[in-house]
Amino acid sequence: MRNKVATAALLAGLGLAGTAFAETKVGVILPYSGTYAALGNEITDGFNFALEEAGRTADFTIVQEDTEVKPPVGLAMARKLVLEDEVDVLVGVVSSGVLGAMRDFVDGAGVPLIVANAGNDGATGESCSPFITRVSFSNGQVNRPMGQWLFDQGVSKIYTLAPDYAAGHQMIAGITGAFEAAGGEIVGGEFTPFGQTSDFGPYLINAQSSGADAIYVFYAGGEAISFVKQYGSFGIDTPLYGSGFLTSPLYVAAEGEAAVGVTTGLHYVPTLDTPENVAFVEAFQAKYDRTPSEFAVQGYDAAKLLMGAVDAGATDRASLAEAIPQVSYTGPRGPLMIDPATNNIVQNIYVYETVMGDDGTLTQKVVDTIEAVQDAANGCEM
Ligand code: PHB
Repeated sequence: MRNKVATAALLAGLGLAGTAFAETKVGVILPYSGTYAALGNEITDGFNFALEEAGRTADFTIVQEDTEVKPPVGLAMARKLVLEDEVDVLVGVVSSGVLGAMRDFVDGAGVPLIVANAGNDGATGESCSPFITRVSFSNGQVNRPMGQWLFDQGVSKIYTLAPDYAAGHQMIAGITGAFEAAGGEIVGGEFTPFGQTSDFGPYLINAQSSGADAIYVFYAGGEAISFVKQYGSFGIDTPLYGSGFLTSPLYVAAEGEAAVGVTTGLHYVPTLDTPENVAFVEAFQAKYDRTPSEFAVQGYDAAKLLMGAVDAGATDRASLAEAIPQVSYTGPRGPLMIDPATNNIVQNIYVYETVMGDDGTLTQKVVDTIEAVQDAANGCEM
């Protein structure tokens, strides 16, 4: 840590050299295998990019572990990082299921966790913790604004599909609650076996014949690619909407033409025309030779919060946990702050359509912005 280094120099000056001051030790806990492996790698790149950009890589020691998108493995890796590696802070977690499995351990151990993806509503709701700060999104937050928005577009009946695990259920609860409140009707829906469904055909046929005006889904990573491709190849003509992970710039190229016209809501798209985002996209592209996705920005912002907390003088688990949620700034996705009532992020949600760009590659056209979306406390007592 900078301040530790400074203190070390001071102590050396006082003749107390030899007192050991460690760098901040960070346990990065993400899927590097399984259906969300690409997401884990992208979050890691975004995180490292922020440290490099700030010239701060030497201030942090990173230990990486693979959750494999499996809750018991995620818990075991969290325990290993905290108890054996003695990290000061954990960063990561993609799956809501893995976050749910880790929650009690993190809270009990008193180790700060910066959530860089997993939207598990409970983690900043009824199971919130002063040690858990989320800089990504909550599952409800990304989907809720789409309820009124879809209804306002003239959609009155939807059919829903999502993987059968915590995030799938919560994302669909977010959209269905808001869509019904707006006056819409849910005509049906199914949850597909998570990480095991390769043939979405039967589900798509049911959706098509349900009489819905629109299909609304949550899929991400490998499942999103399979789903959108099959939606295209089955020639389904019911329009497709969803949370924006469905057509993430991280893998939309693999989905191809089938993604064109799909409209979704998300907290970041790389086409945002703000000085902060234009500079970020240019710098990220120069380093990695690809467009950054929401997952890169989540990793980037996790590092920003961590560096901000260290700069504010945090030196150990307890002070980091206190300082991390107090960092706010305007970054690639727009203004960002952490709600002190829940430790969940407050941010804009962008409605975007995937379109074919002039250069023949798929890109994101922002069609609406819902500003400063904030979750209710949902039972959280800090
Ligand atoms: C989740 O499990 O919370 C999750 C996973 C992948 C996403 C979004 C949410 O893209």
